[in-house]
Amino acid sequence: MRIVNVPLGTRSYEIKIGPGLLSQAGALCTRLKSGTRCAIISDRNVAPRFANTVRRSLKQAGFDSVLITVPAGETAKSLKVVEHCYDTLAKHRLERKSFIVALGGGVVGDLAGFVAATYLRGVAFVQVPTTLLAQVDSSVGGKVGVNLKAGKNLVGAFHQPRLVLGDLDTLRTLPAREFRAGLAEVIKYGIIYDDRLFARLERDLPLLLRRDPKTLMEVIARCCEIKADVVGQDETESGLRAILNFGHTIGHAIENISGYGKYLHGEAIAIGQVAAARISTAVLGLPAPEAGRVQAIFASAGLPTEIRLTPAQRRKLLAAMRLDKKVSRGEVTFVLAKRIGEVVWGRKVPASILNEALNSLAP
Ligand SMILES: NC(=O)c1ccc[n+]([C@@H]2O[C@H](COP(=O)([O-])OP(=O)(O)OC[C@H]3O[C@@H](n4cnc5c(N)ncnc54)[C@H](O)[C@@H]3O)[C@@H](O)[C@H]2O)c1
Ligand SMILES: [Zn+2]
Repeated sequence: MRIVNVPLGTRSYEIKIGPGLLSQAGALCTRLKSGTRCAIISDRNVAPRFANTVRRSLKQAGFDSVLITVPAGETAKSLKVVEHCYDTLAKHRLERKSFIVALGGGVVGDLAGFVAATYLRGVAFVQVPTTLLAQVDSSVGGKVGVNLKAGKNLVGAFHQPRLVLGDLDTLRTLPAREFRAGLAEVIKYGIIYDDRLFARLERDLPLLLRRDPKTLMEVIARCCEIKADVVGQDETESGLRAILNFGHTIGHAIENISGYGKYLHGEAIAIGQVAAARISTAVLGLPAPEAGRVQAIFASAGLPTEIRLTPAQRRKLLAAMRLDKKVSRGEVTFVLAKRIGEVVWGRKVPASILNEALNSLAP
């Protein structure tokens, strides 16, 4: 097992990564010094597979849990589902000392974390991420929230978990497409922070795609270390944390104009990162062969690196980029790479260079 510490003063916590963690959940939760009542929030795909193991483990450790199962997929990140969770928590008399276990992918983590941040003005929560994306990204860092009709993640909070348990066994049942989408965030960490990780990914991609447990454990732990390091320096995204958005300016816009669902988030940001690398070559002099390595690794991971845009779609894409909530004072800015392993954020990009990069994405 690997342990990564997230250094946030009194709110510091540990991320444990390894096999067999679901059945240790109860014992590990006893260290939280919480009450005996808790709730597990999970979704319809994950709960039938894993909730019993977690409940049994909690019971053995003396906890009394209620299971709340929400629909699978992005639609569960809604205020309606939040209200359903509050009602169930109240009905089972969860109190200030109770805690919530988020068992599932990023959707469940964001939803359950938001419920935990707000129920009784905040109760403790534990993340048990079951997708690759959730294990390397959404379960770490404390951003929680739900969607509005007007857009994704428009209501939320910063609420750090007390413990994160990334059980590698859960990844075995993850659909291949979801697994590859998670790899897009894994590769992102190499580009923004760690050239050695990037080189390792180039080498070990076949092992990763086969979900080799040892490779997975080491790579996931490194990604968590990087996210913990970034979040530890800038918890509330006033600066450095922005680097985690490499490839996301264009990626979010692609998700947005294609109608949510056509591209998984990881697929959209794979294309976005390829574009960002090419823009980096034009603006910061990232050597073209390095941008080539970026494109090649996403292609080898089975992720899309091209997109066909009609003139109308391109206009919509540019408009969507300007509407992104990360935009400040109407200025679209980018995270750009100086080299693989080092990026800068908040860079404006001339329209001509942006257009050229979008042209280059055509198949
Ligand atoms: N809070 C953050 O910092 C942060 C960061 C990145 C993404 N997110 C959010 O994360 C969400 C996406 O997360 P995701 O990609 O994990 O999607 P998800 O939670 O929808 O999971 C993807 C699918 O896989 C299923 N699934 C989950 N675990 C499984 C398993 N072990 N076996 C089989 N099926 C399984 C789910 O039921 C779902 O159908 C988005 O809402 C995004 O906004 C949040
Ligand atoms: Zn992302």
